[in-house]
Amino acid sequence: MHTIKYTFQPHGDERGQLIALEEFNDIPFQIKRVYYMYDTRADVVRGNHAHKNLQQILVCIHGSCKIRLDNGKEKKVVALERPYEGLYVANNMWREMYDFSEDAVLLVFASEVYDESDYIRDYNEFLDFVASGGL
Ligand code: TYD
Repeated sequence: MHTIKYTFQPHGDERGQLIALEEFNDIPFQIKRVYYMYDTRADVVRGNHAHKNLQQILVCIHGSCKIRLDNGKEKKVVALERPYEGLYVANNMWREMYDFSEDAVLLVFASEVYDESDYIRDYNEFLDFVASGGL
């Protein structure tokens, strides 16, 4: 499965690190929404859904977590462990976020505002959706 893991460029100096992310430049879409998760218990699995249209970039800006991606044919696990790593998650991709460290903060840049009708929350429905070409 082709997934894109970005390594963002920190602007580091003796004061510490700074990362700047611009839409259409570092982030390959217009950023319409930003949200973040924290205080996520270690035994919790979040996500468990796919999106018909939404694209996202996930950045674990503190701590670590794992992302399981599934395009209906292949599955892949990507660990996010550094604040300069970004994972691009395309539409039509089932995702599960898990194995959160106690201090994890998972920041998400999204290409659309929140829209419940864009979610596929049933895995079999997702498989049917991608098998029919995701239309
Ligand atoms: P949920 O979709 O369950 O999060 P996850 O993808 O991590 O499993 O969202 C949790 C709650 O937050 C749910 O009530 C919907 C709400 N929510 C928003 O209002 N706006 C958003 O942008 C997101 C992602 C969730």
